[in-house]
Amino acid sequence: MQAAKLASLGQALAGVAHEVSQPVAALTTHLASAKLLAAQRQDAEIGGILATMDKVVDRLAALTGHLKTFARKQSEAPMEAELASVISNALELVDHRLKAFGVDTEYRRPNRALRVRGNPVHLEQVLINLITNAADAMEHSPVRVLSIGTAEAEGQVEIAVTDTGAGVAAGDLPNLFDPFYSTKEAGRGLGLGLSISYGLVRDLGGSISVESRPGHGAAFTVRLPLVATARSESLTV
Ligand SMILES: Nc1ncnc2c1ncn2[C@@H]1O[C@H](COP(=O)(O)OP(=O)(O)O)[C@@H](O)[C@H]1O
Ligand SMILES: [Mg+2]
Repeated sequence: MQAAKLASLGQALAGVAHEVSQPVAALTTHLASAKLLAAQRQDAEIGGILATMDKVVDRLAALTGHLKTFARKQSEAPMEAELASVISNALELVDHRLKAFGVDTEYRRPNRALRVRGNPVHLEQVLINLITNAADAMEHSPVRVLSIGTAEAEGQVEIAVTDTGAGVAAGDLPNLFDPFYSTKEAGRGLGLGLSISYGLVRDLGGSISVESRPGHGAAFTVRLPLVATARSESLTV
């Protein structure tokens, strides 16, 4: 039943992605013209804003492209992602939300490159899902701290996203990663974030798990195989 739910979801998403990709292509063209104008007029301020918009549009294009392949399950060219940039991109994209919720973020960039197989946009999507869930869970908490940690062990890397929110009730734990499972009010949660994240991480040969202390917070851990590098240095925490 879950596979059937996901399959029809995939088709719906591919339809939306197809509709969205045309205006996204038009936006790209208009942005290119605007950048030319800004350059001609030597307007660095507008140029800067346009460059930011460019990044957002690129991301939209990458996401809609991904949604289309999601339905067809076609294999993509193998890619590699570097975790520090994946994490900082994800944080940048949810920054406004974290600020709006008054969340303090604790994160120390790993001091060496950690490479994993996979499309960086997919991994950003996973982290964005975990971070927005963490922010939602802390809405009514007196202390709002989001911690992101990376640790390396035995050819694997662990990314832990921990919050000081409400935690997960024991009764919800078994269903948390199911499609359309949400404890949020209608209109706020679709219940797809964790199930999509679960699928993306599994496709990369990894896993995702949760530990919760109800009333004190939750910790989600993503484990991914590291791409072997020539250098092997010591631990990064
Ligand atoms: N950090 C968290 N703390 C507490 N509960 C969480 C956390 N992350 C996810 N959950 C629970 O898992 C459910 C499913 O999450 P998700 O699949 O992202 O869907 P949604 O966020 O749309 O509800 C949430 O409704 C919530 O009950
Ligand atoms: Mg969510």
